[in-house]
Amino acid sequence: VIRFQRPELPPATAIEEYYRRAEDARWYANSGPCHALLVERLQDYLGRGLHVVPVANCTLGLMLGLRVLTEGRRGDEVLLPSFTFAATAGAAVWAGLRPVFVDVDPDGWMLDPAALRGALEGRGDRVACVLACSTFGTPPRRDVAAAWSATAADAGVPVLVDSAAGFGARDADGAPLGALGDMEVFSLHATKPFAIGEGGLICTTDGDRARTLSRLANFGFEDGVVTGEVGLNAKLAEWPAATALSVLDRLEDILGARRAHAATLRAALEPAGLGFQACDGQPTWQFLPTVAPTAAARDVVRDAALAAGVEVRAYFDPPLHGMPAFAEAPRVGGLPVTTDLAERVLSLPMANDLTPGEIDAIAAAVGDGMREVALR
Ligand SMILES: Cc1ncc(COP(=O)(O)O)c(C=O)c1O
Repeated sequence: VIRFQRPELPPATAIEEYYRRAEDARWYANSGPCHALLVERLQDYLGRGLHVVPVANCTLGLMLGLRVLTEGRRGDEVLLPSFTFAATAGAAVWAGLRPVFVDVDPDGWMLDPAALRGALEGRGDRVACVLACSTFGTPPRRDVAAAWSATAADAGVPVLVDSAAGFGARDADGAPLGALGDMEVFSLHATKPFAIGEGGLICTTDGDRARTLSRLANFGFEDGVVTGEVGLNAKLAEWPAATALSVLDRLEDILGARRAHAATLRAALEPAGLGFQACDGQPTWQFLPTVAPTAAARDVVRDAALAAGVEVRAYFDPPLHGMPAFAEAPRVGGLPVTTDLAERVLSLPMANDLTPGEIDAIAAAVGDGMREVALR
């Protein structure tokens, strides 16, 4: 069986090299030496004056980001796609806000700028924030990202970007993600290309906001007292910070390998009739998202691949508006693109160390499925 994802854990010896700093300092958590070095290294990696606030996971990062960006705003609605992972909307609920679903565009599968404009015009100051996603860790196209910011700025609404799987993705200019919107959040979960088990990062160019985020991630403490807002515990401890440092050492190799695997699979499967997400930059390839020509074809190919021992999935089917917890959330329009994509989407396996034999087996299983579709 070729697993859908097969995380490559860094060797304990590579983590230990960094962890020794914490051990020597006898500092376990709360901004110890590994945490400090991680922040420094990540800020160097991202450049552009970005501040990085490590957190225990991306969901907490989204909750904190939403709290900080919506502080003092009149509205409580968050405009976000339904074609995303449950944590995007879940974080909005936990931040005391109300998700409102907006459709995605049919090429890039991200928040549709025209639909966003319509939603902002229609809902006025009920909107507290736009929560866009770099879906699947793919950088949004340059024009799309610019339209999110410009449209939201026209309406005076902040933008938070959930780039969960996208740390290390590069935009059309070759710059790493991190500077999208007013704040951008990443996940370091086991299923992500920059994987440390559990972890997250919040990025912003605004130093005051970064300090507020750090304070809120530590219960809200400042000089030993909680003066302003009540925070929560979202701190990244020293061992996961050491793990992140050891993965960061290898990140460009990891991303290079995944990009090569994705290119080989795409070259084999595009001629067979599978569609791919439009992109003008470099994704990170959390997995290989594709679309079949029809919903029925997707189901045939999925079954054929599973029968051949290739573990495929269908993210994001169901989309969030199809889940009971979010079914009552308002929708802007009928979300036709989201519904269509969800029915046709097929997620193919990815790992840092896929072998040529495994890549052939994935291509053969999915290609056979597509040929079966053609015969029906
Ligand atoms: C789009 C998106 N947002 C948020 C999350 C939540 O990340 P974490 O597991 O680090 O909380 C994920 C995780 O898979 C995700 O895919």
